[in-house]
Formats: sequence, C-alpha cells, structure tokens
Amino acid sequence: MKRALSQDDLKRMVGYKAVDDYVKSGTVIGLGTGSTAAHAVDRVGEKLKSGELKDIIAIPTSIRTKEQAEKLGIPLSTLDLHSDLDVAIDGADEVDPQLNLVKGGGGALFREKIVELCAKKFIVIVDESKICDGLGPGFPIPVEIVPFCHEHTMREISKLPALQGCVPVLRLGNIANNTPDGDKPAITDNGNYIVDLKFKTPIKDPVAAGQQLKATVGVVDHGLFAGMTTVCIVAGKEGVYIKEK
Ligand code: A5P
Repeated sequence: MKRALSQDDLKRMVGYKAVDDYVKSGTVIGLGTGSTAAHAVDRVGEKLKSGELKDIIAIPTSIRTKEQAEKLGIPLSTLDLHSDLDVAIDGADEVDPQLNLVKGGGGALFREKIVELCAKKFIVIVDESKICDGLGPGFPIPVEIVPFCHEHTMREISKLPALQGCVPVLRLGNIANNTPDGDKPAITDNGNYIVDLKFKTPIKDPVAAGQQLKATVGVVDHGLFAGMTTVCIVAGKEGVYIKEK
C-alpha cells in the first residue's frame, strides 16, 4: 500500500519543482526562508553538486538560509553586489486568490521582501493548507518594528483605518515560531521585534493596509506581500498545480 503524503512531502515537491523549472545555470537567485524554501535550497545544492547546475550566485533571505546554503556549498552574495536577480523562490503563510501573500511566520519578512522585490520572477511555493479566500483571519500578519517605544508603535498600528479590528501581539520567544514560548521579545536578524496582527475577518484592502503600515514611524516592514508573486506552485493531495494571476 502506498504511504499517504505528509505535509513535508508536499513542501519538498513544490521546492524541487520550483528549482527544476525556474533555476538555470549562470543566474542570480534569491533563496527564501522557512520549511518549504529549505527544500528548494537543498535542491539547488544537490544540482550544483551533481553538475546539473553551474555558476549560480545566491542571495539568502535570512541567517538560517545563509547557514544552510553555506553547508551545501552554494556560492553566496548580497544585494549590495548583485541586486538584479533572475528569480527568487520562497514559501508563504497564506496566499489569496490574487496571489497576495502573508509572509514572516519565520520572522524573516524584511530580508525576504527586499530580496524578492529585486527578482524578475518571484516563485511562491506552498502546500494547499496555505491557500485562503482572504488574508488575515487564518494567519496573523507579522510586522517588523524597531524596539524603541514599541508599545507606542503597536498602539499606532491598531489605529490604522485599513487594519480596523486588528489586535497587535508582540512575538515572544523563538523568532521562527509565533506561538508564545518565552517571556522575552523575539529578535529578528536585523535586531528588531515582530508584532503579529490578529484579525477576526479578512483584510478588505491588503494594498492599503500595507501602505498604511509602511507609513507608520517605527515600522520597518510588514508581511503583506501584495502584487509581487509571478506564479504560485501548490502541492495538494491530488498533486502539484500552478496558480497564476
Ligand atoms: C519566513 O519568515 C516566512 O515568510 C516563511 O516563508 C513562511 O513563514 C513560510 O514558512 P513555511 O514554509 O515554514 O511554512
């Protein structure tokens, strides 16, 4: 009897497919962060080792991904030296029908956003549990804020008109895990805090919500990735399929 596919099997399927379909030799690529993106990073390492891929330069989106890529012998650079990426591959916490995303469950949203905005193609890889009708109620929106007067910044965020009804919760404990598992604020790779915005109903206008967050002093960046996705590769029990706008 065939073993049922686990969620990790689904994540591996999309991670491998993204690399097989979109990463070519001689290109500059962005490497995402999280348990799904980690499979894509593994695949790049595997194909470089076998010689199937050559002359790749990769820009990691977190310290975790940098360390994984280093172990696999993937040549790395930074946006300071290579800001024109051919493709970036990353997971997401939620994907809406317009392929707008929530990202940052792993706390890497700022580095992910700055890298993925520089890519000609941004390939999102998810298992089917991440697909939703509207962003917000299914997964809190992570926002990176500077530690200075963070309670004030959280109050300002809760007053933003496009974010009506949100409850900002400071992320405690492990940065890559938004369940409170400690009493100290989680610290991002950039030395900042993460606030998770909890919603009961979907955000009506994710673009306006993102703009208002970005205009709030104290906010570094937010986990609403609107209008950035080129294609989304999804794995479900029925197999792998592509979602395009
Ligand atoms: C990292 O900060 C996040 O944006 C991840 O890309 C996102 O949380 C998806 O992670 P998983 O693939 O582990 O679900």
